[in-house]
Amino acid sequence: MEKMIDGELLNVPEHVAIIMDGNGRWATRQGKKRTAGHYRGAEVVETICEDAWNLGIKYLTVYAFSTENWKRPQAEVSTLMHLFYRYLVDYLDKFMKQNMRVRIIGDRSGLSAKINEAITNLEKKSAGNTGLNFTIAMNYGGRDEIVRAVNRLLADGVTSVDEAALQSYLDTAEIPDPNLVIRTSGEERVSNFLLWQTAYSEFYFTPVLWPDFTRSDLIDAVRAYSSRNRRYGGI
Ligand code: FPP
Repeated sequence: MEKMIDGELLNVPEHVAIIMDGNGRWATRQGKKRTAGHYRGAEVVETICEDAWNLGIKYLTVYAFSTENWKRPQAEVSTLMHLFYRYLVDYLDKFMKQNMRVRIIGDRSGLSAKINEAITNLEKKSAGNTGLNFTIAMNYGGRDEIVRAVNRLLADGVTSVDEAALQSYLDTAEIPDPNLVIRTSGEERVSNFLLWQTAYSEFYFTPVLWPDFTRSDLIDAVRAYSSRNRRYGGI
């Protein structure tokens, strides 16, 4: 969608997905504990949701916790789980006020009963909202998602699939593929994020650490996206 943003005509992607990296480094640089970076990171998620919607982005997906993140020190994992739980519960009012539809993707069986309850409640309450489609990837891995989808297909007795059938069993069945994937903190890897869905996505890497990420950085990413010629393998 073409939109005038701060005097500039930009092609705004419908769906932006973000690998929010650099919380730990941000905190360490400030002489704080790594978890302080995650708390700051959660606040940034909230402001970026608002900014994204105001720019005309309809879907925003963020990578909060990967299937590999369990390997982190146990204290950090517990703090993150506590943070997610509080976020899902405390932000409900805000999500409702901002008319956001919230979805969680990932393997819920690995998350606590408390978190599962908060997820169910949040998804149910926000299901009718028509503003930003905000998706949080939690205990998510792209390969794991595909394996879970295949196992569910098998359980349903399906013996042969096409792309559309497999897609409909993914956690993201209801949401379009991302047009643009942003990764912060200078790392340039996919890290098992939305492997199936990013087949044709544009990637944008920035050295900015996630807790420092602002509207202006989001616009830089949208500008880069705008300037690229998308050919989908054709000419
Ligand atoms: C990567 O930084 C960040 C994470 C593994 C966690 C992401 C979580 C948040 C931004 C906060 C909560 C989000 C929501 C949606 C409530 P890192 O720890 O890998 O940083 P480093 O690479 O500098 O060590």
